Amino acid sequence: MSLFAQHPTHLPEKYLFIKTYGCQMNVYDSDRMAELLHPLGYKKTDNPSHANIIILNTCHIREKATEKVFSELGRIRKLKSAAAKKNKRVLIGVAGCVAQAEGEEIVARAPFVDLVFGPQTYHRLPEMVRTALRTNFSFEAGSKIIETDFATEEKFDKLGTDPINPTNSFITIQEGCDKFCSFCVVPYTRGAEISRPAEQILKEAESMVRLGSKEVTLLGQNVNAYHGTESSGKEWTLGRLIRELAEIEGLERIRYTTSHPKDMDDDLILAHGEVPQLMPYLHLPVQSGSDTILQIMNRKHNISFYRKIIDKLRKARGDIAFSSDFIVGYPGESDADFAATLKLVSDIEFAQAYSFKYSPRPGTPASNREQIDEQIKSDRLESLQQLLDAQQLAFNLTKVGTTQSVLIEKSGRKESQLVGKTPYMQATHFCGPKKLIGRIAEVRILDGFSKGLAGDIVKEDKINSIQKPDQTQTEGQFLESQNDWRNKNHARV
Ligand code: 5AD
Ligand code: SF4
Repeated sequence: MSLFAQHPTHLPEKYLFIKTYGCQMNVYDSDRMAELLHPLGYKKTDNPSHANIIILNTCHIREKATEKVFSELGRIRKLKSAAAKKNKRVLIGVAGCVAQAEGEEIVARAPFVDLVFGPQTYHRLPEMVRTALRTNFSFEAGSKIIETDFATEEKFDKLGTDPINPTNSFITIQEGCDKFCSFCVVPYTRGAEISRPAEQILKEAESMVRLGSKEVTLLGQNVNAYHGTESSGKEWTLGRLIRELAEIEGLERIRYTTSHPKDMDDDLILAHGEVPQLMPYLHLPVQSGSDTILQIMNRKHNISFYRKIIDKLRKARGDIAFSSDFIVGYPGESDADFAATLKLVSDIEFAQAYSFKYSPRPGTPASNREQIDEQIKSDRLESLQQLLDAQQLAFNLTKVGTTQSVLIEKSGRKESQLVGKTPYMQATHFCGPKKLIGRIAEVRILDGFSKGLAGDIVKEDKINSIQKPDQTQTEGQFLESQNDWRNKNHARV
């Protein structure tokens, strides 16, 4: 008789709690960690006090990341201590970029931590957990297993491909960065730029579509630097990869993030006009509107280059909407430099954007430069965000009265409310049955807000629904509404 048959109800449940900080790539990594531990019997929980393993998947990109991790570890230490009193062993892991950068420091300052592993070694998690569980249990002295090398290729061979949220899946296609912007930790924590083999990505996408994904987002710190090889050894660009992905039946939406302006080659730009599944929304960080600042940031592009790329993309796909990242208060940023950022934003008109005060990251070149006064940084951030918020609202309002294809992702906060995204990444709320989650619905947009849209469902699952440039408008009507948006926007700001 098998052990299971003998003790069907006495097998202990084992739970995993993961707290994820930072970008979508960390969300992807956390999902893969959960998949890796599933065969060992760990189920995900949202309650850390139920967990047998607690992992903090950390981000090092901005603001006091290390200190935040240590204060979270302080809280987790109490959970571990309370569990130990009940003879329950809880493993504590620190993953991600802070783990990569601060490995030894973490176990020195928080000796109760069991596992410290970087973004390139989490595929070894099952082995690390087994090893940790074999070490003698002492509450104060964790197992102190540190794995922070850079063995990227091996990692992807070991990962599963079952999407945790099958509606819109994420696939990491590229990792690391060779650009070395002078404010950024990524080249140090994620390592040199490396691309996954093309066929491996196609297979992963096919399996995700088979499991129900309608949308795939290709991820990478510098995703458009993608140069993965096919089995013959030939290199593919991101444009080529997107065109091949578009051949997968049932894959209705393709996105990619995050891109560097310098790597927007002509083929990729043309793909925006030629591949209907490629969504008309692009996150293209510019960081500053001043050439002087871009140069000291070591961004490797200037403003006229950025504007040219935007123009080419608008020519390729008239309705494309843009998002960007901005840093204000960079060391050396004058009033005139900041005014140039506002001017760029006014000219381009972003549908959405992220903006941050510069915060020095230890080990990066900009951290040694003379810093700008905090109050000036706050004032600049506020005026930039006012402008960006006004543009986002104006963009959202252009969709009122249109019908948009919305990929339904989840239930909303209100009773029988659903939430999904338009092709332009606008969060859209409407009422409908839960069974529609995972499907594409046509939604008549009735209202626009700064953070999203609200509407009524018209029709669900419009098969072969992909049209250009907007699902219900003729190109003339579309251009009119865009002009309208621009005019309104200028009036507003
Ligand atoms: N300070 C402020 N913002 C930063 N970013 C990256 N490093 C820093 C830093 N040291 C922002 C950039 C980047 C985004 C992911 O985070 O705008 O594009
Ligand atoms: Fe960081 Fe992006 Fe610059 Fe690379 S290109 S160093 S990831 S900001």
